[in-house]
Amino acid sequence: MGRSSKDKRDIYYRLAKEEGWRARSAFKLLQLDHEFNLFTGVNRAVDLCAAPGSWSQVLSRKLRGRKEKAEKDEAGEEVKIVAVDLQAMAPLPGVTQIQGDITKVTTAQEIIRHFEGQPADLVVCDGAPDVTGLHDVDEYIQAQLLLAALNITTHVLKSGGTFVAKIFRGKDVTLLYSQLKIFFSSVTCAKPRSSRNSSIEAFVVCQNYSPPEGYVPNMSNPLLDHSYDVDFNQLEGPNRVIVPFLACGDLSAFDSDRTYPLQLDADKQYQYTPPTQPPICPPYQEACKLRKNNLLSREDTPSVCPTQSQDEPEPPVEST
Ligand SMILES: C[S@@+](CC[C@H](N)C(=O)[O-])C[C@H]1O[C@@H](n2cnc3c(N)ncnc32)[C@H](O)[C@@H]1O
Repeated sequence: MGRSSKDKRDIYYRLAKEEGWRARSAFKLLQLDHEFNLFTGVNRAVDLCAAPGSWSQVLSRKLRGRKEKAEKDEAGEEVKIVAVDLQAMAPLPGVTQIQGDITKVTTAQEIIRHFEGQPADLVVCDGAPDVTGLHDVDEYIQAQLLLAALNITTHVLKSGGTFVAKIFRGKDVTLLYSQLKIFFSSVTCAKPRSSRNSSIEAFVVCQNYSPPEGYVPNMSNPLLDHSYDVDFNQLEGPNRVIVPFLACGDLSAFDSDRTYPLQLDADKQYQYTPPTQPPICPPYQEACKLRKNNLLSREDTPSVCPTQSQDEPEPPVEST
């Protein structure tokens, strides 16, 4: 397989490299912003689960770019962006990095310290666990990560603020929606054009943060999921928790499920572009080293280690 074959199969992977984004996920946030105007009035933003950093790049370009144009907004506030991930991330202009775990209260404290006690206007989370291929397990872990993101968000988000997070639209999604609706007056499930239809991945856009009266943020709080019972997701009719579903991104945008010819434009010759920023110290590095030395015994080992891959895998789960 030639190195350009992925460029053919995955138009957003290709465009990400050509436009200098570290991952194709950048387009998901850009398309969500196109629909929801996420960045208007935002001076303090948090990117949870940020590595390799394409969402942080979007935040940096949009928020700092806007600021450079307007110099200072009416309130004269400076733009601050914090990115958190378990993994190390190559530096980005105007983005403070915290290598840490979003489930830890110390991470929340570090974010608040960076904002000098001020709450964030926007929290985004594209967090994904390493998928196992066991759909129920993957959905469960993703749901736990979303709840952890919501939990840390309750520590750092201002009242009225916005939270955007990746969600798997699996069979327990109704419970997640209902938990989110406890904290936000508006919850919408959105599917950007750059997120493949074959993936159950979508994004919840939660607006107007308004926690229940007396709610005290607490990392060990299972976010009120004690109200869960097994019949919850079977609720029908008016009892069902319905959140609007929105396909978003400009409809003329490329279709992430299609294969495109390399020659996209009649008057622009295709040229292979290498990845913008390969991951630094990725968790699979050790396995690649072992494999190179024939020390890794595993069935169906892929023929190439993805040391140059800048693309995060879409969850290999059922199509929606
Ligand atoms: C799909 S990638 C994020 C891609 C990123 N939005 C971008 O645009 O480059 C998911 C990330 O979630 C991170 N992650 C998973 N669990 C985490 C946790 N508990 N705390 C912090 N980061 C976590 C992983 O390390 C991984 O880098």
